[in-house]
Amino acid sequence: MRYINKKLTIEKLSVDRIAKKYGTPAYCYSFSQFRKNILNFKKSFNSFSPLICFSIKSNSNINLIKEIKKFGFGADVVSMGELMVALKAGIHPRKIVFSGVGKTSDEINYAINKNILLINAESQSEIKEIERIAKLRNKQVQIGIRLNPNTDAKTLKQISTGKKENKFGVNEETFLDLVKKYKRSKNVILKCLSVHIGSQILDHKPYEKMLKVIYKIIKKANFNFEFIDLGGGMGIQYENNHNKLDYKKYNNSIIRFLKKYNSKIIFEPGRSIIGNTASLISKVTYIKEEKTKKFIVLDAAMNDLIRPALYGAYHKILPGLKKNKRSNKIYEFVGPICESTDKFSSIKNFQELVEKDLVVLQDVGAYGMSLSSNYNLRLKPIELLIKNTKIKVIRKRQTYKDLF
Ligand code: LLP
Repeated sequence: MRYINKKLTIEKLSVDRIAKKYGTPAYCYSFSQFRKNILNFKKSFNSFSPLICFSIKSNSNINLIKEIKKFGFGADVVSMGELMVALKAGIHPRKIVFSGVGKTSDEINYAINKNILLINAESQSEIKEIERIAKLRNKQVQIGIRLNPNTDAKTLKQISTGKKENKFGVNEETFLDLVKKYKRSKNVILKCLSVHIGSQILDHKPYEKMLKVIYKIIKKANFNFEFIDLGGGMGIQYENNHNKLDYKKYNNSIIRFLKKYNSKIIFEPGRSIIGNTASLISKVTYIKEEKTKKFIVLDAAMNDLIRPALYGAYHKILPGLKKNKRSNKIYEFVGPICESTDKFSSIKNFQELVEKDLVVLQDVGAYGMSLSSNYNLRLKPIELLIKNTKIKVIRKRQTYKDLF
């Protein structure tokens, strides 16, 4: 995104033009950024040709998944709905991995029917259930076991998943026990060790530590896993002063690992592929002036983008049209929802805004639309894919008819 003649533009289209045609709030994805992220990710790890499974939970728009598929990606899914959308987008079942702590019997049955690459199990009870269903149906089902490596991802506590107090995966002792129990099962074919230590990780060191833990445990297990699934979690720069994850160092530590333990690596990235590709265009509905600050009431709300309310996450806000005058009051950007947490951020010295001005929330491609809801019975926004000067509606704005 950049300013051309003071107008904020996505690829070659001004935000103003997009908003006039499609209304607000609107999620807009830049195709060129999306493509760049995909190619960069592939290039960062090309020496060992991993299977890259896009994490559908970060963004489940079928039109975007269809585009990702063209680059050879598979999918990481966590529910029947996500598995269905991945298949519908044309992703080959043998490129799909299924994670999650609470897969139901229906979901397991469906995954077995579709013959997906791996069901990554997260407990002994789940493996028992997979084995029961597989036996009943006289099938052989490929599974992974998710290890909880007790590694601190050094990220927000709400999105950390790899520490012993988190519900994900099994601890070392259970892992070793399960390998022993299931390595010769007829119906459950043990193929993979999987991990995912958290999200929005900007430091390569937790990954290095995680690889060391994995190595130590697979040595003890004395078993040849065909796949090591390292999960996702690669962070992006929401703020200018954020570190950048050092992909080179992460890549090097994986290469060192593979020299000692030959296997096929799987990744499950979400945010690093889609996060910085999208912006949420919103219009200022009202400005409410208080003594010390001004409430900038937007037409976008926490139902459209919940990350600030849920995690205190920060999304940069930019004006649609650049003006020179700065406000001497703090601007508090809020939505219209009846909750005090329906707030995007408070900013000092923002440029003067007036009612009906456009603003743009940045880096909302991951866990933006996929976490949106109809809270307060608000309609979900439209999603647009921008390619150069072309706009494709990749999801229509909801209508009241869709709701009732
Ligand atoms: N694999 C597994 C097993 C996961 O649980 C996740 C994310 C991923 C892969 C993808 O992680 P990523 O590459 O996107 O970091 N809603 C939160 C993030 C929750 C992440 C949940 N798991 C947020 O908005 O920050």
